[in-house]
Parts: sequence; C-alpha cells; structure tokens
Amino acid sequence: MKHTRIIDLLQMQPGAQVCAKGWVRTKRGSKSVNFIALNDGSTIKTIQIVADVEKIADETLRQITTGACISVEGELVASLGSGQAVEIQATRIEVLGTCAADYPMQKKGQTFETMRQHAHMRLRSNTFGAVMRIRHNMAIAIHDYFHRHGFLYFHTPIITASDCEGAGQMFQVTTKNLYNLKKDEDGRIDYSDDFFGKPTSLTVSGQLEGELGATALGAIYTFGPTFRAENSNTPRHLAEFWMIEPEVAFCDLTALMDLEEDFIKHCVRWALDHCADDLEFLNKMIDQTLLERLRSVVEGSFERLTYTEGIAILEKAVADGRKFEFPVSWGMDLASEHERYLVEEYFRKPVIMTDYPKAIKAFYMKINDDGKTVQGTDVLFPQIGEIIGGSVREENYDKLVGEIKERQIPMKDMWWYLDTRRFGTCPHAGFGLGFERLILFITGMQNIRDVIPFPRTPKNAEF
Ligand code: 4AD
Ligand code: MG
Repeated sequence: MKHTRIIDLLQMQPGAQVCAKGWVRTKRGSKSVNFIALNDGSTIKTIQIVADVEKIADETLRQITTGACISVEGELVASLGSGQAVEIQATRIEVLGTCAADYPMQKKGQTFETMRQHAHMRLRSNTFGAVMRIRHNMAIAIHDYFHRHGFLYFHTPIITASDCEGAGQMFQVTTKNLYNLKKDEDGRIDYSDDFFGKPTSLTVSGQLEGELGATALGAIYTFGPTFRAENSNTPRHLAEFWMIEPEVAFCDLTALMDLEEDFIKHCVRWALDHCADDLEFLNKMIDQTLLERLRSVVEGSFERLTYTEGIAILEKAVADGRKFEFPVSWGMDLASEHERYLVEEYFRKPVIMTDYPKAIKAFYMKINDDGKTVQGTDVLFPQIGEIIGGSVREENYDKLVGEIKERQIPMKDMWWYLDTRRFGTCPHAGFGLGFERLILFITGMQNIRDVIPFPRTPKNAEF
C-alpha cells in the first residue's frame, strides 16, 4: 500500500484505509493497547498510532522503540484524545529498522551543544525538523521574490583567483603535493604546475562576477555557498555559509535600500504565511517573543541613517553615561555592542546604515563627493547584528583604479572586472544577505551552527 505523508493524513477525514511511514518519537501503553507517536519530517506534528495487542504481535511491539522506523497500515479514525483530530487504528505494523539502545536523540531536553556532536541525527528532533523546513521555505521565498521581480538566477564560480572583499580570508584550492612544493629562487611557491596554473581559492563572494551579469542582463542574483577562512568563533560566523547576492544595473542608494527592505520583509512574511506550525513551535520552545518580533519587522519601516549620524547618537549616549567596551569615534568600525545599542535600545527596529568611512569598507564601493565616505549600506537586525552588507558600486574607471592602487590589490588579477568600467560603464548596486543569519532571525535560534545541517567552523568539519 502506498503511504501518505503525515502532514496530509492529519488533514484527512476519518474512515479511510491508510499507510504511514516514519520514525517513532515515543511509545507508551498499557497491557491492552500501545500509543505510538510517529513523525516523518513532513510536519512538526506526529500522528498517533493505536496498536492493540490483540492485533499486533508482541514481538513487533517489542521492537518499536524511540527512533525505530516503522510502516503502519490501518484505519484513520477520529481521535478521542486531545491534541489531534485523527489517529490510525493499526491493523498491520512492519518494523523497517529497529533502533539501537544508544540512539543519541532519545533523551528530551538535551542542550544544543550536545546535539551538535550528533549533527547526523539531530535532524530527527523537533527543533531541527522545524529549522530545516523553514530553511527550505526561505530558499523558495528567495527564488520566488527575484523571479517575480525580473532578476535572473546567475551562477558565479566557487573556485576563483580573486579576493572580492580583499580581506585575505580565502581557503586555498590546490592539487599540489604539499610535501614537495616547487619554489622559485626567492623561495616563493611556483604555481605554474598547479591545476589552474595560478593560486586559486574558494570564493568569499560572487559579487565581482555578479557585476558582470548585472551590467549585461540588467538584474541578477546569486544564491550559493561562500567561504571565509576567518578564525571567528562566534555564534554569528561560519567558515562555509550561503549568501544571496542581487546585483542591479541603474540602481542608486535609495533604490538599493528599498530593495533590501522589501526583500527581507517578503522573506519574513513568507515564513509567517508558510511555516506557521514550525514558528509556533519555536515561539513556544525557543523564544516567546519570536512571532511578535517577526510581525513587527513586516509591519514597521526600517530606520535609515548615515554612519556619521549613528556615531553622533553613540557619542551622545557615552556623554550621557552609557558604557561601551570599545570607545566610540568617527572612523572606527562599529562593534556589535554599538550596533545592538542602536538597533535594540535606541531605535528598537531594523536599521539601514549608510555612507561609511572609506577606510573600513571594500574597494568597490562608490566614493561620495566628500572623498571620505562611500555609498555602502549595512542592514542591522535585532539579535543578529549585520544581516546584509551592500553598496552602490564605483562605476568610474579612474576612481576605481585609484582605490585598487591605494589598497595595493594586484591589478593584473582585476582586468576583467575593470573592463565593465571601460566598455559601457553604468551605475549599479547590490548587496549580500547571509542566508544563515536570516534563518537565525526567523527561527529565533541563538547559534548559527544550529541553522545549517552540517556547520563548518574552525577545527570542525565533522559529518
Ligand atoms: O558584508 P559582506 O562581507 O559583503 C560581501 O561579501 C559583499 N561582496 C556582498 C555584496 O555586496 N554582494 O557579507 C555579506 C553578508 C553579511 O552581511 C552577513 O550576513 C554574511 O554575509 N556573512 C556571514 N555569515 C555567516 N558567517 C560568516 N563568516 C559571514 N560573513 C559574512
Ligand atoms: Mg559586511
């Protein structure tokens, strides 16, 4: 008999003969009857299986423990118990896979830290089931948004020879024998015999190639894995994370901010509309203010201010006695305590900050007429901090080359990027949204390692 997903079974009217397959969450019972809670990952909910000892062999019932995989046939009947409309009165149960006694997911109330050590099995828990379903729905929301707004899904390479952010946080890609490296007379590694004939790395961002797409196709977005070899052991950083990078021709700073705000609101609204059961579960178990926070982001507007205005607010706070660990002054990179003050205490809503000092931002950002600031934007979110980084791009060839020279970025690697500014240059802008930071916000989870199936962080590449 073909099985029906539990999410669909729970919507059906009583009376049908059905088959359900899934993993046992709990089993309790008396001498005459066993109640099994079965989950198949299609929903946070379980379906109750009523197994009468008269109908189901003792030997079978003994094998049905938490974690076991079973196939159940029977009649869908109205449930007498509270909490569910229907349950299955089993006529036949087949144990597809028994579960060994050391199944790591059987204890309730384990810490997320412990569950991370069992990341291969934690997907079977309620919390990770909810997070993974939301993660999937967010990916769909993102493609939906861009497709409907005329952006092309553009595939940028993962292996690259350029460092987009210029921060030197790249993972090298090589097929060279590391024990026997060919070197030149100055002791530098000779890459001519390496796979690509030059040093290559995993990309930190698809932006540079994304700009090639946007300046030909109008509007594109990327959505793929990116890599940062930064030794940041924080609940907000991964070495491998997914980034969404739209890039748009003929877009100025205001249009860029409008896009950032509209796009995030679309994603949050999508979660509220499509993931109600999972969000309700997370709101109950993880963070009781989650739903309220999500709704407030959709309903309110984001605060927009310049970096200079932000510094003035922080300086005033310091003058009024607010203590920060790091001192505040114009030109500094904001620390997370400063961002949180602005977002969570001062404005109490998402903030889009713009016009940062040139020195703390990447080389490609459009320089303002003051010569000191650039048209960069960061979107700062409650609990998360920076969720988006983006900018208007410097489209003027001479100014861009000036920046590249000043920062001593090797020019010979950038020729193809600079060509966009030589052949029909155009004003354009784009941003990068960290997918896992979005999922953190939408789920209320506290640690970025718990919103991606198999996190990659310093000293951790298990599974
Ligand atoms: O601010 P970032 O470094 O910007 C760029 O890479 C630009 N090239 C994007 C663009 O304009 N197309 O990174 C963008 C976002 C951050 O705001 C953050 O959400 C996320 O990527 N991010 C990380 N997420 C998880 N772990 C890390 N180590 C991250 N680094 C950045
Ligand atoms: Mg950034």
